[in-house]
Amino acid sequence: MELFDVLRTTFAAREFTDDPLPDDVLFTILDRARFAPSGGNRQGWRVIVVRDAKTRQVLAELTAPAAKRYAAQLSAGENPWNPIDSTSVDPGTIERTPAPARLTEPMVRAAVVLVVCVDLKVVAATDQFLERVGVVGGASVYPFAWNILLAARHEGFGGTITTLAVAEEPKVQALLGIPRHVAVCAVRQLTSLRRKKVPEFTMRERWGGPPLAASRR
Ligand SMILES: Cc1cc2nc3c(=O)[nH]c(=O)nc-3n(C[C@H](O)[C@H](O)[C@H](O)COP(=O)(O)O)c2cc1C
Repeated sequence: MELFDVLRTTFAAREFTDDPLPDDVLFTILDRARFAPSGGNRQGWRVIVVRDAKTRQVLAELTAPAAKRYAAQLSAGENPWNPIDSTSVDPGTIERTPAPARLTEPMVRAAVVLVVCVDLKVVAATDQFLERVGVVGGASVYPFAWNILLAARHEGFGGTITTLAVAEEPKVQALLGIPRHVAVCAVRQLTSLRRKKVPEFTMRERWGGPPLAASRR
């Protein structure tokens, strides 16, 4: 596929065919994804390839608590899991809210689940002393995670990045014996993409400045 076609058609696939994703294709995908950038080129990512059905079932169960909160906050008109505005939803309501199947079932139905981890000992988290949630550390692993989906798309596969199980990180660590966790589920492509246009996320010179408009040339 042409680069633009890959960029334009890689989306969050949550419905899968029964097509297998063989190890040699997976190797090719990861072999291309590994050219992602990372702070200081430390390449702290590690990938656990999970095919075992029981393990994927447990990962789906570990996805549920965060998915319940996500759905409950969404129903209350909130931006789920945002670290700025505390939620108005009480714990009982969250507990009673069903975990949406679309957020948990892909973990079980996908051909393979890739648990993408990052070694925090090699991550340059330059925002770690600020009084806000850290985001810079993620920049040393998510380009790689996204590259996996781009490379998979090139091979005719699709999947979704999911971070919901990270909320239960100690249990995921115990399940797989790992230090840190970010999950990705893979396989096959489906529908068209909804994306903001460039003027919707650009500002000239300072926050609130005029957007970068398309050139008339
Ligand atoms: C950091 C991150 C976390 C995400 N977490 C989830 C998730 O937990 N579950 C899920 O179904 N999709 C998850 N997604 C996928 C997004 O919902 C998806 O990329 C977005 O809605 C755009 O979808 P589209 O490409 O199909 O238009 C995540 C994406 C990113 C980048």
